Amino acid sequence: MKKVLITGGTGLVGNALSIKLKEKGYEVSILSRGTGNNSDFNYYKWDIGNKYIDLKAIENQDYIIHLAGENLGAKRWSKLQKQKIYNSRVKSSELLFDKIVANNLKLKAFITASAVGIYPSFSDGGAEFNESSDAGNAFVSNVCKDWEKAADNFKNVGIRTVKIRTGLVQDVKDPALKKTLQLTKFGILPVFGKGKQYYPWIHIHDLVNIYIDALENENIEGPINAVAPEVITNLQYIKTIKMILKKPFIVKIPAFAFKLLFGEMSEIILKGTKIKSELNGEFIKFKYPTIESAMNNLLDKS
Ligand SMILES: NC(=O)c1ccc[n+]([C@@H]2O[C@H](COP(=O)([O-])OP(=O)(O)OC[C@H]3O[C@@H](n4cnc5c(N)ncnc54)[C@H](OP(=O)(O)O)[C@@H]3O)[C@@H](O)[C@H]2O)c1
Repeated sequence: MKKVLITGGTGLVGNALSIKLKEKGYEVSILSRGTGNNSDFNYYKWDIGNKYIDLKAIENQDYIIHLAGENLGAKRWSKLQKQKIYNSRVKSSELLFDKIVANNLKLKAFITASAVGIYPSFSDGGAEFNESSDAGNAFVSNVCKDWEKAADNFKNVGIRTVKIRTGLVQDVKDPALKKTLQLTKFGILPVFGKGKQYYPWIHIHDLVNIYIDALENENIEGPINAVAPEVITNLQYIKTIKMILKKPFIVKIPAFAFKLLFGEMSEIILKGTKIKSELNGEFIKFKYPTIESAMNNLLDKS
C-alpha cells in the first residue's frame, strides 16, 4: 500500500483529498497542529515555530503533499498575521526538508500547494499569465515565490517536485462561497469593486484530481496552474450564481469600503489575474470546465 503524508490535511482541500486517496487505497497520514478525529487516517503533530515534527509522521512515506498554511482571509494582515501566513508555508516547507534530509529519508515526490497569487494582479483586466510568466511583487506573490523556492530544495536533491498554483477553490464548504450564499438569504449577491477583476477558479473535484495526477504521473513536475479553462471576471462569476439561484439582486460593493474594512487584505478580493494553464488538456481533464457547470453541481441544481 502506498503511503502519503498530507500537511494541513484537516483543511478544505486536504480533507477532500485525504478521502479520495483513502478510497483509492492509499494509507493517508495527516500532519497537524491539533489532534484529528477520523479513524481512516493516522494523525501526527508538528510545531513549526519550535521546528518539531513527530518523526513517525515522515518515516516510510512515499509522498508528501504540503497544504498547510494560515488562511489568507482569516484576519486583517497585521505584521504578525503576515508572518503567520509566511511561516506556515515557507518555514514549514524548510522544516519538512531539513527533517527529511537529516534522517536520510527517501520520497517518490514532494507536492506542494502554491497559489495563482504568485502572478501580478489587476483590478481591471490585465495580460494573460501562464506557468512560464514572471511572478509579481505584492505580498502574496513574494510568499508564493519563497514557498516554491523552499519546495525546490526537494527538487535539488533529486526528488520529483510539483507546485500546484491553485485558483480560488469552489466548494460549498469554502468560507468565501459560504459567505456569498449567506447573503442570498437577504436577496443580494455581492460584486467586489467594479467586478472587472479576473477570477481564476477551480472546482474542488478537479483540484483533487490534479493533486492525484501530480502524485501518480511521474511526468508531471514543476509549477502547474490549477485553474479551470473558462476565464471569467468577478462580475461573470456572480452573474452565474444569480442565474442559477434565480432570485437575488447584484449589489456592487465599492472598492474603498473593502480597503477600509480589510486594509491590504482587500487586494485578494479586488484584484485578479487572467490565467491559463499550459498543461490543460495535456495532463488535466476537467469535469467542471465552465463556471456554470461547477455552480450547477455545487448549488445542487444539476
Ligand atoms: N482554498 C483556496 O481557494 C486556495 C487558493 C489558493 C491556494 N490555496 C492553498 O492551498 C492550501 C490548502 O488550502 P485550503 O483551502 O485547504 O486551506 P485551509 O482550509 O485554510 O486549511 C489549511 C490547513 O493548514 C493548517 N494551518 C492553518 N493555519 C496554520 C498555521 N498558522 N500554521 C500551520 N498550519 C496551519 C490547518 O491544519 P491544522 O489545523 O490541522 O494544523 C488547516 O487545516 C493552502 O496552502 C492554501 O494557501 C488555497
